[in-house]
Amino acid sequence: MKILVTGGTGYIGSHTVVELLNAGFEVVIVDDLSNSKADIAIAIERITGTKPLLEVFDLTDKVKTADFFKRHRDLKGVIHFAAKKAVGESVEKPLLYYRNNLESLMNVLEGMVDNNIRNFVFSSSCTVYGQPDELPVSESAPIKKAESPYGNTKQISEEIIYDTVKVTDLKAIALRYFNPIGAHESALIGELPLGVPDNLLPYITQTAIGIRKKLRVFGDDYNTPDGTAIRDYIHVVDLAKAHVVAVQRMIEGKMKKDFEVFNLGTGNGYSVMDVIKSFEKVTGLKLNYEIVGRREGDVEQVWADPSFSNKELGWKAEKGLDEMVSSAWRWEKAYRGSQPPQP
Ligand code: UFG
Repeated sequence: MKILVTGGTGYIGSHTVVELLNAGFEVVIVDDLSNSKADIAIAIERITGTKPLLEVFDLTDKVKTADFFKRHRDLKGVIHFAAKKAVGESVEKPLLYYRNNLESLMNVLEGMVDNNIRNFVFSSSCTVYGQPDELPVSESAPIKKAESPYGNTKQISEEIIYDTVKVTDLKAIALRYFNPIGAHESALIGELPLGVPDNLLPYITQTAIGIRKKLRVFGDDYNTPDGTAIRDYIHVVDLAKAHVVAVQRMIEGKMKKDFEVFNLGTGNGYSVMDVIKSFEKVTGLKLNYEIVGRREGDVEQVWADPSFSNKELGWKAEKGLDEMVSSAWRWEKAYRGSQPPQP
């Protein structure tokens, strides 16, 4: 049972590879290492006892991608993570995002269709809902105009998949993630943002370890109980496990439609201040932070209705906020401890 994981050395990809190997799948990773390191394959081997095959190339390269699929006709499925994901950068460089995220998707789909590989899992995002009219947000909520080119690539990608499924033998599941945080319990893999982190958790852990001076809390004047914005944070290992379930569902022929969409969240909304308090509680540290103005493009509050995923996939996020936050901190400490001292 061989599965291709594109972007498999990245944050969510690496955790998913671990869960696939634990479940007995064989894994091939394709990654261009533009936002990750080849060493991750070794960390995965330390966790699981199996080193996944890693092929390093860029999936926007049509010739290389076609050649890859010809050599791997025995794939049972593909989980497609490989994509650029920085919201702010996508506003600065829209063409980079459209070219990278959409060309790679089309090359992968073409490789699958040409070689009769049928099962495709796509890494989508709750960003497709924008600020939803109703909370919690279910899969049937309307798709709002994207706030950023990054978000738009997720919307367009889902449409490309839908149109392809209609006219081929391809079956697809799009998983719409809420806010993945945390790290594997081994602290051997975790989130490794390039440069200054955009996201809340890596910013918190990097501030606490002394790489950043101060966390800026973007806005305390939202219409929420403590005024800070609310998200549905989900442990990356819970998220990774949902991908294994999705792949099994496809292979076992349990899909109800040829293109299915699932929300992956816990159903709990936490504010930025809740996350900071959880961090201070589990670490016993005082976090240096200040309240500043809102960040452009942020929605006020969003959390998932995961009941459809819970029922249909038989999957449920199990880990709570404190466990998510403490695993992120263990990873930050372990990672920094493993790096040579800075000059
Ligand atoms: N935040 C801060 N300070 C920071 C970073 C974040 O206060 O330094 C706040 C944000 O304003 C937001 C919350 O923390 O209220 C979460 O922010 P993240 O950047 O961690 O996550 P987002 O919800 O903005 O973005 C995530 C994914 C995107 C995806 C988006 C969809 O990172 O890929 O959810 O809503 F598009």
